This record gives sequence, structure tokens and C-alpha cells, in this order.
Amino acid sequence: MAATISLWALAWLALAALLVAASPRLGRLRVAVSLCWIGLFLLTVEDALLTAWLALASPAGAPAGLSDPDGIAGLVPQAARAGVLNTAAWAVGGAILAGWIARRALAAGRRWAWWALSTLFGLVAVTHAGTAWTIHSRGLPFPTPAAEHGGFGWEPIAVGLLSWGAALTLSYGPIFRAQPNDPAKPAGGIARSLYNFGYRYFRVPWDVGPRRELVDLLKRGCFPPGRAIDLGCGTGANAVFLAQHGFDVTGVDFAPAALVKARRRAQESDVIARFVEDDLTYLRNVTGPFDLLVDYGALDDLPLPARDKYVEQVVPLARPSAQFLLWCFEWPPRWWERFVPFAAMSMAPGEVERRFGPYFEIERIAGTEVPDPRAFIAGYACYLMTRRV
Ligand SMILES: C[S@@+](CC[C@H](N)C(=O)[O-])C[C@H]1O[C@@H](n2cnc3c(N)ncnc32)[C@H](O)[C@@H]1O
Repeated sequence: MAATISLWALAWLALAALLVAASPRLGRLRVAVSLCWIGLFLLTVEDALLTAWLALASPAGAPAGLSDPDGIAGLVPQAARAGVLNTAAWAVGGAILAGWIARRALAAGRRWAWWALSTLFGLVAVTHAGTAWTIHSRGLPFPTPAAEHGGFGWEPIAVGLLSWGAALTLSYGPIFRAQPNDPAKPAGGIARSLYNFGYRYFRVPWDVGPRRELVDLLKRGCFPPGRAIDLGCGTGANAVFLAQHGFDVTGVDFAPAALVKARRRAQESDVIARFVEDDLTYLRNVTGPFDLLVDYGALDDLPLPARDKYVEQVVPLARPSAQFLLWCFEWPPRWWERFVPFAAMSMAPGEVERRFGPYFEIERIAGTEVPDPRAFIAGYACYLMTRRV
């Protein structure tokens, strides 16, 4: 065995196996975090130390006191050494970040953490395979097993991948088969944090005051005053505008920093509006019915499964004959949007009709006639919908 697997890797393999065996007692998510750390250590930290050593070793070979049985240090040209060191620093930084994600978010059952760690796992696996292939195809010596030379070989990498893979497998069940609307879970995950960060530290680009279609329709008398709700109200411009025109308004958003600004706006405008922190895909703090629903740019932000939940939650808020003004980005989905996180920020043509058609009469009152797929924002649409009686 020692001829093919270094004792070092074998020890980690044994620890990983013990952890997996103990997972029913220790908890799958807790064990998954430990396995992830083992994987990260073996795949990134250990590799980074090796590259740091290569970068620092003298051109003649290893520094005094360190053996270089495979003659690898001598193969790294001087010019590459700074780059190698740089890569090592990035690897350690990335490993620390991934370890933190595992500890804080994977352990808390966050789906985004599982996806982030899976993506990273894929990248690390591919880069390791690529390195092995490059070394092999150029006829360079592979670091060989401990028994033959004394250096580290491929075994710790294999154990690292195994351990990380086991972490993802173990955590899949508790994370994805859990009750999706578990009240103990804070809503929104990474999207909420990003919005909150944006609202706290910047003036967000969509903070442009009450929106044109809403203002026009209201001035034309299309919306008689009543109870109104602004879904994903942001800093509250539309909600405050409605309150100024006699509506009893509730603004809902999951970003607390947006609500702080919205409340300040209402106070400065001397109107009363309620601003409630809630998740549009799982409403806990809002009760209907409302006469007017407004959504400027919240529904299109949601990933597809969350849009189903939004519809489930929002439709019952509309009383019979209530009106719903919905503004969204709209264009045919572009292939690359599937692969870029948070790029899915538009409705597909026909999607609004498909989702809301069973409950509302729908009129498209504004929008881009022919979306331009070369533009980043390819098009938009605005719908006025009336709840069927
Ligand atoms: C593009 S912004 C538009 C804000 C506002 N309607 C405006 O026009 O200024 C989308 C808003 O929806 C909120 N949002 C997104 N997903 C949400 C969710 N699941 N629950 C509650 N609010 C959400 C965001 O925090 C953000 O304020």
C-alpha cells in the first residue's frame, strides 16, 4: 500500500472515512464542513506550500535542508517564480474564503453555499486534471509516491477531491430536501445580502423617483385611492408617491437597508406609509387584500422556481377587480445567461401571460417592441393587470 499511497494521504483518507461514518451522530452538515476543510487543505493549501517552495528554491534546486528527489525545483524558470508565488497566495486566499463559506453558510443549510462550493470544486478538479495532463504531455517527471522518493504525489489530491465530493454529497440532502419555507431560515440568501450592501453604501441606479407609467396612470385617474402595496419597494419612491395621492400604502422589501431609506423618505415627505421587511416568495408579515399592487423590477429578479412562489404568494393579495402594475425587464433568454449567476434578470416574452393569465386580465401598456440581444439590457415591458372577479 505504501508503494502507491503516501502515509500522509492515507491518514487523511482514514480521518475522512471516520467522519463520514460518524455523520449520523455528529450531523451531516457539521461533518460536511469538516470534509470540505480537509479537501480545501489538501487541494489548495498543500499545493500552495509546494508552489511557494518551488518559487523560493534556488535555480540549482531545493533550498538547503529540503530534498528535491524529483528535480522539480530545477524545472521552474526564474521568471516563472514570482508568478508561481502569486498563484500560491491566491490559492490560500481562495481556500480561506471557501472555508469561511463552508463554516458560515453551508453549516446553516444555505443553498447558495452548496452551489458556490460545488462550482469551486469543479474548477479545482479541472485545474488539477489540466496540470496533470500538461506535466504528462510534456514528458516532465510526475511527483511520485512517497515510498519511491519521499515527495508528495497525486494521492493527497485524490483524497482531497474525494473528501470535498463527500462533503457535497452529504450536505445535499439536508439542504435541498429541507422544507423550502422553513421559518427559521432568513429569507433571500446572497441576493438579499447583495441588495442590502448596495442600498447601504451606494445610491442604486434604479433609485430615480416615482416611475413614469405609475405617475401617468394615477394622474389620468386610473387608480382610485385604496389599499396599495409596492412589492420590492426599494427606497420607497413609488410607495411615497402613492401615499401622497391618498393611498394607504404598504411597501415590502427584503433588504433592511432599503427600508431604512424608504422610511426616511416618507418622513421627509411628511406622509404615512408602512414599510415591512418580508420575502416576496414567502410572505409572513403582510396581509391583504389590496386594491392596487405595484412591482417595479422585483419579480424579474427572481430565479425561475422563486417566481412560482412569488405568484402563489402575491395573487391572493389582490382583491377581485384589483389592479396590478407590473414592470419588468423582458427579452428572450440568451444562452449565456444560464451560466452567469444573477444574470437571469428578465422575463421571457409570454411569461407574464403564462404566470398571471389564469388570475388577471392582462394589458401590455408599454415596452420594447423588438428587444436588442446585443444590448446588456435588451428590453422591458410594463403590464396593467386586473384581477378577475
Ligand atoms: C431592481 S430593485 C427595484 C426597487 C424599486 N421597486 C424601485 O423601482 O426603485 C428590486 C427590489 O426588489 C427587492 N427584492 C428582490 N427580491 C426580493 C424578495 N424575494 N423579497 C422581497 N424583496 C425582494 C430588492 O431588495 C430590490 O429592492
